[in-house]
Amino acid sequence: MAYWNWKPSYELGISVIDNQHKRLVEYINELSAAVTTRDKKQISFILTGIIDYTISHFAFEEQLIAEAGYPMAGPHKKLHESFVAAVSRYKKSFDEGYDIAGQLMAELQIWLTYHISNDDMDYKDCVKKMLVNKEIQKIEDRAETKKKSWFQTLFG
Ligand SMILES: [Fe+2]
Repeated sequence: MAYWNWKPSYELGISVIDNQHKRLVEYINELSAAVTTRDKKQISFILTGIIDYTISHFAFEEQLIAEAGYPMAGPHKKLHESFVAAVSRYKKSFDEGYDIAGQLMAELQIWLTYHISNDDMDYKDCVKKMLVNKEIQKIEDRAETKKKSWFQTLFG
């Protein structure tokens, strides 16, 4: 059985973000499996993977919310930064030989559940609006290009 099961209530309805969040949940399940086997090399490998993936996910999310003009983009970025700092501290302790993987796993689950369900949920409408507007713009641009090519066919 998985350590952490994805729940539909975590979904923001922004597929690119939801898929990244699902990957984070998977990563924590992989960590849980590695902790059970007590394979230190594997645990270390997964911890590095979690940190790298989290950093790129956060960067992607920060760019998206800034582009959407989300008013809390700055404070949201700060939350990400303190989370990365905390996880990196755990990784350092692990590298120094402390048995923190189980504790970290629990903290990751609590933090991510809270963050996705509250902080991320808070930006979803703003980002969705921006994405819809972008799609409308694309359709309008396409229509405009078509109009130009008709004009050229008829009068060019
Ligand atoms: Fe976030």
